[in-house]
Amino acid sequence: MKVSCLDQAIHEFDRALRAVAGVAEAARPSPADGIGEAELSGAERAHAAALMRVNHVGEVCAQALYQGQALAARNPAARDALDQAAREEQDHLAWSGERIRELGGMPSLLNPLWYAGALAMGAAAGALGDRWSLAFLAETERQVEEHLTGHLGRLPDGDLRTRAVVEAMRADEARHRATAMRLGAAELPVPIREAMKLASKVMTTVAYRV
Ligand SMILES: [Fe+2]
Ligand SMILES: [Fe+2]
Repeated sequence: MKVSCLDQAIHEFDRALRAVAGVAEAARPSPADGIGEAELSGAERAHAAALMRVNHVGEVCAQALYQGQALAARNPAARDALDQAAREEQDHLAWSGERIRELGGMPSLLNPLWYAGALAMGAAAGALGDRWSLAFLAETERQVEEHLTGHLGRLPDGDLRTRAVVEAMRADEARHRATAMRLGAAELPVPIREAMKLASKVMTTVAYRV
């Protein structure tokens, strides 16, 4: 028992380090595969890289949230569904990290901070029980989806490689949200939803720059 707890702790710590370092292996090929690189101006590349840095930070946070969720989930069916979603979030982390590099950008220097913040929030939600922690997850996925839709409006029209990644992530997030709802997510009170929006506004504004 002790050994398995220790194994799990090591495994989780390893995942945390990988998330923060942005070292992730994708199980699915990048949606950008096979799409040609667009001719972009320097400013367009920098803008697309900055938007992908924001998305990458979102995925670092998703790693922490799902990690907290899977640890806290009481029901095995919920744990399996969350594990599946967490694996897809790892693909997102790898795809967005790769796209940042291709665009000549850098991941956020504040990743350890984002990760720690999301882990604290995920653990707090997890402590309230499955229904509330799923509610928190569903709302997060909803906001991420909304946010990715906004990015599709702001990315350079011709940057089809970045667009393909963002579109595939958006489709996954919509499914993750549906999964959380199906597993019995409660409805979050409006003030909490507003507070989460504010936190995400701060994160996206800062991550666009560093
Ligand atoms: Fe994601
Ligand atoms: Fe997701």
